[in-house]
Amino acid sequence: MPAPALVESPANQFAADISAGLQKAGQKELPSKYLYDTLGSKLFEVISELPEYGLTRADERLLRAYAHEIMHHIPRDVMVCELGSGSGRKTRWILETLSRRRRLDYFPIEISATALAVCRRELSDIESVGIVGLEREYLDGLLEVAARRRDGQHILVLFLGSTIGNFSPPADANFLHEIRMILQPGDSLLLGTDLEKPIPQLIDAYQDALGVTAAFNLNLLARINRELDADFALEQFEHIAKFNAGTRGVEMHLRSKLRQTVAIRRANLVVTFEEGETIWTENSHKYSLAEVSRMVEAAGFRCQAQWIDREWPFAESLLVAE
Ligand SMILES: C[S@@+](CC[C@H](N)C(=O)[O-])C[C@H]1O[C@@H](n2cnc3c(N)ncnc32)[C@H](O)[C@@H]1O
Repeated sequence: MPAPALVESPANQFAADISAGLQKAGQKELPSKYLYDTLGSKLFEVISELPEYGLTRADERLLRAYAHEIMHHIPRDVMVCELGSGSGRKTRWILETLSRRRRLDYFPIEISATALAVCRRELSDIESVGIVGLEREYLDGLLEVAARRRDGQHILVLFLGSTIGNFSPPADANFLHEIRMILQPGDSLLLGTDLEKPIPQLIDAYQDALGVTAAFNLNLLARINRELDADFALEQFEHIAKFNAGTRGVEMHLRSKLRQTVAIRRANLVVTFEEGETIWTENSHKYSLAEVSRMVEAAGFRCQAQWIDREWPFAESLLVAE
């Protein structure tokens, strides 16, 4: 008789990913998606209000100013799906505008139950919008939305906040291609990308004076302590943000202040950190406009329209699946 299939629980998957990342030869790494537990999602909301972090305000200025223009490119019978919606606050401008023409369903896809709950609450007052939250990974959620499509219905995918930049090139183009494979020709993707800007401004955005981004980053170690029975001493690690000129991304790391050993019991792992050694926890790639064009074309999309925020260089691109 065949052995029963092992079902990977989220806790086992978390332990396996942490274990693989901390045993990586060379640079230790942790997947950035694990930054978003309950506390992490709340801290991210605070980050988006910080004076140094202009990205969210730029994205929202564009969505608010151009929601009508965006609507003119989108067929009336549309289902709207958002990858990593977070609180969904900025999405209000798109949903209010589109739903004035016709009732629509909105599917926020989130790995964080906390973010999804905030998103439902934040947007539930918009008339003529049905909200169907999906607590899933991006592509699993998008597959589920696509399976619910009625004949002739159009899909608009929102991928805002430059979350695409968390995929280091060429993984960003590969991820967009995976989205394209789930869509049909003529479907749309509204993509937010943060553009290149002076390095000191970028570093400040990821290393704010209040230390909120530091808390967001260190919370990943606190989460491993809570969920995997580990003994990271948080005061023995520090948050750093640095610009990688080779890849043109801002990297967040956690640097060990001394040589130390940490036990992660539920992952059956003991890890040693040298003094000054870092764990790479997030990448935020900064794009040129030419690079955005190349990336979307390589992924099978055509750029139909684009809006740029000049105050905090940021591009909102409306793409069509070819
Ligand atoms: C950088 S935040 C952006 C939130 C929001 N879109 C914005 O622009 O402010 C990324 C969001 O994606 C979610 N997320 C990260 N990785 C994910 C994954 N693999 N699948 C689904 N959601 C994910 C996080 O929980 C978080 O809310």
